[in-house]
Amino acid sequence: MSTPAPQGEDRIELLLATPDFPPSAAFAAQAEVADAAIYERAAVDPDTWWADQARQRLDWDTPFTEVLDDSDAPFYRWFADGTLNVSYNCLDRHVEAGLGDRVAFHWHGEEGEQRDLTYAELLADVQRLANGLKARGVGKGDVVGIYLPMIPEVVVAMLACARIGAPHNVVFGGFSPTAVRERLEVSAAKALITADGGRRKGKTVPVKQAVDEAVDDLASLQTIVVVRSADAPCPMRAGRDVWYHDLLAGADPHCPAEPMEAEHPLFLLYSSGSTAKPKGIVHTTGGYLTGVATTTATVFDLDPERDVFWCTADVGWITGHSYVVYGPMANGCTSVIYEGAPDYPDKDIWWDIVERYRVSIFYTAPTAIRACMKWGAQYPAKHDLSSLRLLGTVGEPINPKAWLWYHTVIGAERCPIVDTWWQTETGSIMISPLPGLTATKPGSATRPLPGVSAALFDEAGGPIEQGSGVLVLTRPWPSMLRTLYKDPDRFVQTYFSQFGPGVYFVGDGARRDEDGYFWITGRIDDVINVSGHRLSTAEIESALVAHPVVAEAAVIAASDELTGQSIVAYVTLRAGTAAEPALKEALRQHVAERIGKLARPKRIIWADDVPKTRSGKIMRRLLRDIAEGRDPGDATTLRDASVLTKLQQATAQVDQVPAGAPETGNA
Ligand code: WTA
Repeated sequence: MSTPAPQGEDRIELLLATPDFPPSAAFAAQAEVADAAIYERAAVDPDTWWADQARQRLDWDTPFTEVLDDSDAPFYRWFADGTLNVSYNCLDRHVEAGLGDRVAFHWHGEEGEQRDLTYAELLADVQRLANGLKARGVGKGDVVGIYLPMIPEVVVAMLACARIGAPHNVVFGGFSPTAVRERLEVSAAKALITADGGRRKGKTVPVKQAVDEAVDDLASLQTIVVVRSADAPCPMRAGRDVWYHDLLAGADPHCPAEPMEAEHPLFLLYSSGSTAKPKGIVHTTGGYLTGVATTTATVFDLDPERDVFWCTADVGWITGHSYVVYGPMANGCTSVIYEGAPDYPDKDIWWDIVERYRVSIFYTAPTAIRACMKWGAQYPAKHDLSSLRLLGTVGEPINPKAWLWYHTVIGAERCPIVDTWWQTETGSIMISPLPGLTATKPGSATRPLPGVSAALFDEAGGPIEQGSGVLVLTRPWPSMLRTLYKDPDRFVQTYFSQFGPGVYFVGDGARRDEDGYFWITGRIDDVINVSGHRLSTAEIESALVAHPVVAEAAVIAASDELTGQSIVAYVTLRAGTAAEPALKEALRQHVAERIGKLARPKRIIWADDVPKTRSGKIMRRLLRDIAEGRDPGDATTLRDASVLTKLQQATAQVDQVPAGAPETGNA
């Protein structure tokens, strides 16, 4: 008699010893990319390889003759003498090809509502909104803010902006109205598209009303378009504010897509960096669309006739821009948009959606996988997940156990997993398996994609073939950021000043193994990654010190089992302020108001002083050691070494307080 095959935890333990996971013969046989020679071909002449992608995958109004222009490096330009329109490439050409009735999005609302939106329907709404915006004086080059929940109108809003060449600036719905204001102000947004309210786990929260106070005196903001979405109280200011449905109803239905220069800015997206001021990352038209269209097809082995694609990210992050909206729509495929939380109405809602819409490609963040793992395999077990054929992860390193849980419980050991490494700045996926070719290893993003050159450097800029180092990209690529909005000096300084001309500094550390696979270890700068959400220590510190009782604050990231990293704040109170427990809640609330709930510190530790060098610089490495319970070791460079012992004691006391349930990520 044979013993039964091990299951669940035992199976995962067993698989931990498996060195790698090649694609099955059946998967490889049908894969979009099945010939390993593609890497070689792209490496020999990357410019031609990218130019071929740009020509094959996109429709150009004026074909380009120039590929890469590096005459003003690092301000690279791609396909610069070509023109095209992104909304044409995402809508019109599919409708013209007879695919107007194809569902672009199955939208699933958090109360179970369902709406299918076809390519033809979206094209009709996009044209009306584009005309509505034009009638309000928004034209080519004018920035439009978008602050919307995960409702279909967010896609219409983005594509309407693209249609008329108005760069959009989407602000993640989890950011506070104060953060919205800051992002609209620095980008001088002329219009804002928002909603009356948002819904989360059965509750309705007013959005427009909350934003109003923050943006009231913004001189540049001439129009606020409001989607009626949640029946929340919503004051409207005559002259400035207009309902989305009224604007569409009154607009001309025809708005031809205007050809844009390939280098015309498609959008700005603010992202956290090393300082308190977020960076306005600028992406342009032709290169960006080439990058996302190519990677959606190749990395996800997408067949638009067959697949149903679901990327769970919020459109407020780059993952949502590239793999909810632009990549899938450029390929003309059917996707899912889900408005709600992964545990509402119950913890099986994601798997319910996979079953209901026969999702075949599923792309999410490691934090979400770890949360599902904690909730237990009984939730996915309630549903038929046999439609799944490929799984993906993004946003943070994935630990091998979570990878194997995903592989066994969700993928039934049938689906390849693509661990995709990239950034807001890179626009599209850079390091990832190609699922029909690559033998994957749990925890490794494997190799740079064709046309991408990545390397590891030591601190002095010497290349490292094997071992640990600093990740860099050594050649420009079409979907790279072009600059930081109105801050070209910071662009050069942040990304191109570390290792000499042409070398893009990523900000991540990584290791390369004997097979040449990359293992990303995480940020090496002051960026925190909580649940795949990118935040800045400096921005949180600046929010904390803006509170009247705070004299000084040092914020660091500590590793966290569920969220990857968590925020720890060492706070020095002003003399005379009593360190009461209630004050911690007040400070968390204060951070939520300044930035957003996602930036609230998980632990606040009262500190009389924080470790500083003799020149006054906070030594974050020591704080991280203390927060993670390690011995900080050599502290001879400290101004006052006794500070460490006190902090260790204070940290140990805080850790005795049980932590609340961590928020799950939405990316
Ligand atoms: C991290 C998200 C390990 C990394 C698309 C990067 C990852 C930052 C991975 C960018 C991955 C993203 N493995 N780490 N597969 N993907 N990261 O700009 O630290 O929100 O620099 O873009 O997330 O975050 P961003």
